Amino acid sequence: MPTAPVRSSSVASFLPPELYRSEAIAALERKHYASRFWHPVAAAADLPVGQVRAVDVLGLSVLICHGSDGIVRAFRNRCPHRAVAFLEPGQGTVACRRLVCPYHGWTYDLEGRLMAAARESEFVDPFDRSAWPLEDLDCRLLASLIWVAPGVNPIPLEDQLDLPLQEATSALRNPLELLAFHERTLACNWKIAHDNTLDDYHVAIAHPTTLHRLQGPVKHYGHRFGAWANVLATPWAEPTTGAGEFLTFGLPPWNHLLLWPDGRQAMIQFVPETIDRCRMQVWLLGPRELQPEGEALMAEMVHFLAEDRALVESAQRGYGEGFRTGPPHRLEARILHQQAIYAKLLQPWYASGRMPR
Ligand code: FES
Ligand SMILES: [Fe+2]
Repeated sequence: MPTAPVRSSSVASFLPPELYRSEAIAALERKHYASRFWHPVAAAADLPVGQVRAVDVLGLSVLICHGSDGIVRAFRNRCPHRAVAFLEPGQGTVACRRLVCPYHGWTYDLEGRLMAAARESEFVDPFDRSAWPLEDLDCRLLASLIWVAPGVNPIPLEDQLDLPLQEATSALRNPLELLAFHERTLACNWKIAHDNTLDDYHVAIAHPTTLHRLQGPVKHYGHRFGAWANVLATPWAEPTTGAGEFLTFGLPPWNHLLLWPDGRQAMIQFVPETIDRCRMQVWLLGPRELQPEGEALMAEMVHFLAEDRALVESAQRGYGEGFRTGPPHRLEARILHQQAIYAKLLQPWYASGRMPR
């Protein structure tokens, strides 16, 4: 009679599926995980001097402004008078010298200073413009992207990008153009999409004619792990551009940085919308000479991302049916690495038993 396989009690395991389907967990993730990190919000090349855009970062409405002094700043998109937003995210990038609140007309420059308020001499108490600047948020430019940290104690951006900065410093310091941008909703918890993009076990099976051709034989895969980021390095399989490596970095909280030896760079992020839906955003950046091919290069990415979409949405249905995870494979080590970071940041909640189930 066949015996059941014996399982050691200390086997490696994925995060429990309960963490993928709880509203309470999603709130804790936002507070104790996502808010510790920096979030890419736009391509630097897509926000020239004198332009402003409203974006949503972890539920906060944020204005990013490229001031006439050349500095890009982030502010809470809330008028200090009565909390109305200056711009809505759907308005895209807007060229303006002044931000005028649509409620009572308080007017700010792009450095966040209050320049005028309607009927200024008639406030109940003496009015001092300098006491009412826009509330600023941490904002940085790195890797041709604008990053915002909405939390109070963010991990340094150089730590979050530890491995990319060690392995590709000069590539990341080159200012790149925005070649194309793509976004769409995926019907899955963000962790399923993040896990999938960290998963080097599925590529040969699920992407035989797309990504697998680019990444080449599994025997040449190389993995490296930093404190925060990890990377899959594969020899470049494109004969026209010579030797090199194609690098796929996995980054917390839900990001992926892809670097090609021809100077292309992509940032992919999976931003949670609900517990069973996330927003995939893809910035494709590169040198100016690749601009004419930008849409075609993005179309290639969208092709393999669509192969993934079918799989992650199928997995989501399984998680919703009470599925228990199977054993991790050696080629899924990058998933375990990022899940360990997630678990460590939520550890006080595990340890105290306050982690909802
Ligand atoms: S809310 Fe902006 S001016 Fe009143
Ligand atoms: Fe994939």
